[in-house]
Amino acid sequence: GDADHETALATGRPKTGPELLRYRDALADDPNRPRFHPTPPANWLNDPNGLIHHDGTYHLFYQYNPGGPYHHTVHWGHAVSDDLVHWRDRPVAMTPDPSGPDRDGCWSGCAVAVDGDVYALYTGGRDGWQRPCLARATDDDLTAFEQVDDNPVIDAPPPALDLLSTPGEPAHFRDHCLVREDGRWHHLIGAGLQDYGGVVVSYTGTDLTEWTYAGPTLVADEAEPGVVWECPELLRYPDGDLLHVSDYSHVRYFIGEFDADESRFVPDSRGTLDPGAFYAPQSLTTPDGREVMIGWLREERSVSSQWEAGWAGAMSLPREVAVIDGDIRQRPVREVERLRRERLHEGTLTLDDAARRLPVEGTALECRLRVDPTDATEVGLVLRASPDGPESTSVRIRPDRVVVDRTESSVDPAAHADDVAVDVADLSRPFDIRTFLDGSVLELFVNDRRALSTRIYPTRADATGVGLYAGPGGATIDLDIWRLG
Ligand code: FRU
Repeated sequence: GDADHETALATGRPKTGPELLRYRDALADDPNRPRFHPTPPANWLNDPNGLIHHDGTYHLFYQYNPGGPYHHTVHWGHAVSDDLVHWRDRPVAMTPDPSGPDRDGCWSGCAVAVDGDVYALYTGGRDGWQRPCLARATDDDLTAFEQVDDNPVIDAPPPALDLLSTPGEPAHFRDHCLVREDGRWHHLIGAGLQDYGGVVVSYTGTDLTEWTYAGPTLVADEAEPGVVWECPELLRYPDGDLLHVSDYSHVRYFIGEFDADESRFVPDSRGTLDPGAFYAPQSLTTPDGREVMIGWLREERSVSSQWEAGWAGAMSLPREVAVIDGDIRQRPVREVERLRRERLHEGTLTLDDAARRLPVEGTALECRLRVDPTDATEVGLVLRASPDGPESTSVRIRPDRVVVDRTESSVDPAAHADDVAVDVADLSRPFDIRTFLDGSVLELFVNDRRALSTRIYPTRADATGVGLYAGPGGATIDLDIWRLG
């Protein structure tokens, strides 16, 4: 209710730098807490927001509830980096305005620089309403954003569309992507159509406050009633344009052409960016012209486990995303090599058809395998294994798919225990597979093309072992392992 809400905003929720660091320190012993994937200092994190390289610094804002490890009255948390892989906490950058259209939350949005000033365009939540709002950074370090006076900058969703809403509730209409072309902004917003499914709508404008509705930019191919497309983003490449949306479960991408005159996207192909826990990503352009994407890695355990842990949510590694020859490429940014500490294994191993434990331990590791599974032989990498069971996670490498088998990852019944698989049938072999383990985060990349991120929650302190196995006929594996820090 209103009184609770006012109290929540007024009580001392951790928002300043020193407070955030105290909270972060208090959680330092949690072995499932990632070390090099950005996490909230404590409490709740969801989508990345306002990714931007500004004045020599990378800025990552994110959906943050300073009040607890659950989604409520989100603020914009803030972290900065010089190299995309070492992040530092900054004070909370945007706080809901108790009398504004964002009083129930500063939801997801993007950031752009205009004549040296940085602006955030985001969704203000109030009493269930979702309205586009604008805020301006108070300094070059983007320490805080101040809401403009004439919010919301769009005061109602397009009346021409019958947008999805729960009976008696305002329509779903949220999340923002700005693309500038020929002096004009294209402003993409996510929504759903009543009784149909996902849609991306567009507005155009020349400043950031006056917007003209330009029509639906992309509509789902098939009916999927109840689905809202969240967090649309349009990335333009010399070889083709990429539009992605988050459909409540995964990130769906479309490769094709954005017709700027008509504000329409015409897709040629489509797919899922990552079959795992990766959601609501955003991208920035580096000074050397790479499009780098970061996504929210959702928790895959129960709400009560999140309360016990005191934190929820992590960011993915930054991945470079490109469209080449009509196909999508995803690989970790080269800067992740700066996280490498000692090399724990190097060289070629010949395995017979047995499992082998390696003399390597760790919860923050990069394992790089070059391996050619044959139709008869599966090859596997085992991580976070406790010495005599019962916990271990197997990355099962087969000719057509790479599967993360989580059936024994954790004895905690609240941890998700299903398999997550990525299709690699069309990739050339031998496969070059890079896996990044970081506490409860496991991300893997195959041939710099396919990505899979997932979450595991071992309970045993000694679940730090690493192993390999091969099926009948054995296998030869090139393996490098680094401890990451
Ligand atoms: C996606 C999302 C967005 C929304 C934000 C609220 O995870 O639901 O659509 O703006 O999170 O935190």
